[in-house]
Amino acid sequence: GRVGVLYGGRSAEREVSLMSGAGVLAALRAAGIDAHGFDPAEQDIGQLAAQGFDRVFIALHGRYGEDGTLQGALEQLGIPYTGSGVMACAIAMDKTMTKRVWLSHGLPTPRFMSLDANANAQQVRAAMDELGLPLMLKAPHEGSTIGIAKVERAEDLASGFAHCARYDDTVLAEEFIAGRELTVPVLGTGREARALPIVEIRAPQGNYDYEHKYFSDDTQYLCPAPLDAALTERIQAIAVRAYNALGCAGWARVDFMLRERDNEPFLLEINASPGMTGHSLVPMSARAIGMEYEELCVEILRSAAL
Ligand code: DAL
Ligand code: MG
Repeated sequence: GRVGVLYGGRSAEREVSLMSGAGVLAALRAAGIDAHGFDPAEQDIGQLAAQGFDRVFIALHGRYGEDGTLQGALEQLGIPYTGSGVMACAIAMDKTMTKRVWLSHGLPTPRFMSLDANANAQQVRAAMDELGLPLMLKAPHEGSTIGIAKVERAEDLASGFAHCARYDDTVLAEEFIAGRELTVPVLGTGREARALPIVEIRAPQGNYDYEHKYFSDDTQYLCPAPLDAALTERIQAIAVRAYNALGCAGWARVDFMLRERDNEPFLLEINASPGMTGHSLVPMSARAIGMEYEELCVEILRSAAL
C-alpha cells in the first residue's frame, strides 16, 4: 500500500525533520515501497486518509509530531503509524515527566527540580543552591539542544533561565553530571525491545549543541562506545527498561551521561522520534551491527500497526 512519510512540520526542529524525512523517503523508495512525502505544515493531516495512505512513517521531531498530538489524530483517522503511541510520546516529549516516571521505576536520572517559567530570582537561586554548579536548565518540551543552558557561574543563572523560559511554561533544573555522553537506540516493542550498540559522543569542549549535531564535522562518534562488556550490557539493559517504563513502541533513542568518577550511568531523556539525518545516531548505531540505513527504515516501518 501507499506509505506516507511525515516530515517538516511546525516545531523548532522543522529543519532537522526535513533532513530526516528526505533520508527516510529515499530509503523506503529504494526498498521498493510506494512512499510519498507529506508535510503537515503544508497540508491538513485529515488529507492522509483522502489521499489513500494506509500507514505512515513519522519522521517529525518535536511538538505536533513527536509529542502524542499527531499520534492521537492518526488513531482517530485509523491510520497505523511508526513508533510510540499517544501516552508514551506525550511523556517522552516532557523531560520532567519522563524523569518522574523513571524515578518511580527505580531508574537512575540526575537530581532535578521543576521551576515555573515565571519563577522569581530567589526561586531560581534556590534550585542552583540545591543542585549545584554547573547546573543544566532545560525547556522540558524541546529537542536538538534547543532551549538548553548550562550554567557554569552564578552570574549566568538569570540569563540562562530567561533563555529556557522563553520556550516553555516550566524549566527543568537538573544536576550536571560530569562525564561521557552516550546514546542507545532501542528497536522493537515490549518483550521484543532490544538495544542497539551504544554510541559515545565526544564534542569539542563538550559542546554537543544544535550546530554540532547537524552541521559540523568536528564531533567524534565512537560506536560501539569503548566500554567494557559488563558496563555495556548494564547500560543497554537500563535503556530497554527506560523505554518500557514509558511504554515506548517501535523505536526510540535513550540519552545518558556516564559519570566520570564512578562510571555510573544516568538517564537524561528519551527521543520518541529520533533524528534520521546523515549525522544522526540511530543509523550510525544500526550500521555497527550491519544494519544499513535502508534496512533500518524498513524495520521501523514494520512497527506501524494499530
Ligand atoms: N531531537 C532530535 C531529532 C533527536 O533526538 O535526534
Ligand atoms: Mg531530545
